[in-house]
Amino acid sequence: MADRPFRWLRRPAASPRGLSYGADYNPEQWPPHIWRQDVEAMRRAGVTIVSLAIFSWARLQPAADRWTFEWLDEVMDLLHEGGIAVDLATATASPPPWLTAAYPEILPVDHEGRTLWPGGRQHWRPTSPVFREHALRLVRAMAERYGDHPALAAWHISNELGCHNAYDYSDDAAAAFRTWLRARYGTVEELNRAWATSFWSQQYGDWSEILPPRLAASFPNPTQQLDFRRFSSDALKEHLRAERDLLAELTPGIPVTTNFMVMGETRNMNYADWAGEVDFVSNDHYLLTGTQARDELSFSANLTGNLAGGRPWFLMEHSTSAVNWQPVNLAKPPGGLARDSLTHVAHGADAVCFFQWRQSAGGAEKYHSAMIPHAGTDSEVFRDVTDLGATLRALAPVAGTRRRPAQAAIVFDWDSWWAAELDSHPTSLLRYRQEALDWYSALTAAGIRVDVIPAGGQDDTSFDRYALLVAPILHVVPQDLADRLTRYATSGGHLVTTYFSGIVNEHDQVWLGGYPGALRDLLGIRIEEFAPLLDGERVELDLGVAGTLWTDRVEVTEEDVEIVARYTSGPQAGRAAVTRRRTGAGSAAYVSTRLGPDGLAPVLGRLLESAGVTGELPASLAGSVELTIRSGPDADYWFLINRTDDDVAVDGVEGEPILAPSLAKDLNLGPRQVCVLRRPAPENG
Ligand code: GAL
Repeated sequence: MADRPFRWLRRPAASPRGLSYGADYNPEQWPPHIWRQDVEAMRRAGVTIVSLAIFSWARLQPAADRWTFEWLDEVMDLLHEGGIAVDLATATASPPPWLTAAYPEILPVDHEGRTLWPGGRQHWRPTSPVFREHALRLVRAMAERYGDHPALAAWHISNELGCHNAYDYSDDAAAAFRTWLRARYGTVEELNRAWATSFWSQQYGDWSEILPPRLAASFPNPTQQLDFRRFSSDALKEHLRAERDLLAELTPGIPVTTNFMVMGETRNMNYADWAGEVDFVSNDHYLLTGTQARDELSFSANLTGNLAGGRPWFLMEHSTSAVNWQPVNLAKPPGGLARDSLTHVAHGADAVCFFQWRQSAGGAEKYHSAMIPHAGTDSEVFRDVTDLGATLRALAPVAGTRRRPAQAAIVFDWDSWWAAELDSHPTSLLRYRQEALDWYSALTAAGIRVDVIPAGGQDDTSFDRYALLVAPILHVVPQDLADRLTRYATSGGHLVTTYFSGIVNEHDQVWLGGYPGALRDLLGIRIEEFAPLLDGERVELDLGVAGTLWTDRVEVTEEDVEIVARYTSGPQAGRAAVTRRRTGAGSAAYVSTRLGPDGLAPVLGRLLESAGVTGELPASLAGSVELTIRSGPDADYWFLINRTDDDVAVDGVEGEPILAPSLAKDLNLGPRQVCVLRRPAPENG
């Protein structure tokens, strides 16, 4: 994954490598006398780094030929004097009003042809040459001004690229899409074949006829939609590269990152493809609501850690308490702030930062929590923040250690996410990420450590280290991926896949001969027709659990296929619901319905047993404690995270507890508490 060599924050010579701690810092919202108070309070809280100037373009360049860096010079100097490092933004995230007034052609256009006007943020077309020129001018000015500043630890490109402007349907986008398609297909004839344009009279005669999938009279061509998603992710990646390459030329000694958004349903950027473009991976994550919210945080942190190739990564943003953008914004319960932060550290984060340092008095995010809330430093939040600072200091030995790979992995694939949820499908209710998260919850509840890994492509061996590989809704299976999975399962690996997997190739064209197409032979089953369920409909299985969303009329085609579970109600009653085929020393299993985290438990029990995967904690802790392991040259660090809101006594786990304010005082974990145990590194590494 990591094409660029890993480079962590630059730090002053001789300063020790620990975990970094801080926030987005937006001093332009406050008068200068507050800046001094800020630095003093940062020191009290244990802050070591801030992300600066993210939304400062208008303050740095108030007109095309006017630059006003003096205030930022002062802030950089103040931070440096206070011993606080800076992750300095290139400040290109939100263009100033003078720029969009002079060049309205940089504004994005939605699929209905409506302009997205200034007044919010990120109102720029990723493919606009005019925007690119002005953005790079600012990047150059920032690099020339601050490249040698002693506080500078890293460059922060733009901010959350694609958060609001991932899909632009403008004429600039149309032109860039054609260029991208030419590079992909070479000839219009090849594109016609890939897009199956003989359907509905869509055949193209010339590149100039091709458009982004703008509002159409009916379903737009699905391969056009899938390619537009791929193109849009690439267009933002091109912007990232353009800023990065200029920085690399001007300030080669400074590492470069940008904050990803591996969280929830944020799906527009293929981060598996982006991870190799930065010197270290950064992520923003906000806790969602609902029964799987905690597992969702862990899943996201886990995937981020694996996008980073197991190396340390930077948690660039999360919240101390409530956000301002959910329908109802809940404050975090006691211990919530620390548990959320430490779960990210458990999955490999070496820096823990919040949005933002000081809660804004005005503007759209004034009700979003911060490290210093409206109430000031005499507050529960600030005391928790200060405790966490002390905890992160005590956890310094963890810095630089890597994730220890688990025995089981869940394969996560952006192409399948995009394609499986396109319109005109058997059901519109299918949710790709939810199915993956359900498996994660089920494995975690069973006390099994699991990695969430990108499907990859280049690295033929990345699956091999896992005894069990779960590939939920792996919808897009090009021939080479089918070959990799087949090799995996026939050389001793235990593969599990689910409904709507193996269905199409990379052009979203169906593998013929019966489903699950590309995986049919490996699984030893054949399905002639899809059989989705209506919303609220349930079918029973003989394992005592119920399926929703989907069923399949599974025909077993090979003698060595074992029926792990059968339907006992609904249209498929009596037929196989879950199958498993022995493939030499390995196996290939198929789950034909959505079982949800609880319903997966008995199926998982069977699959884990045959794969020989066992928990590393005593069975009594399964479900209540999540385990992650970080490994260093001299020791392993076991993070035991209380997943529940109750007390949990940890018995039978050896190790030397690291004691610090926000960590459990002993092995009795209070609600939401975390403890970290130092243990000798295993002999075989
Ligand atoms: C992120 C963004 C921050 C802030 C935060 C609020 O999307 O990067 O600037 O808006 O969300 O949760």
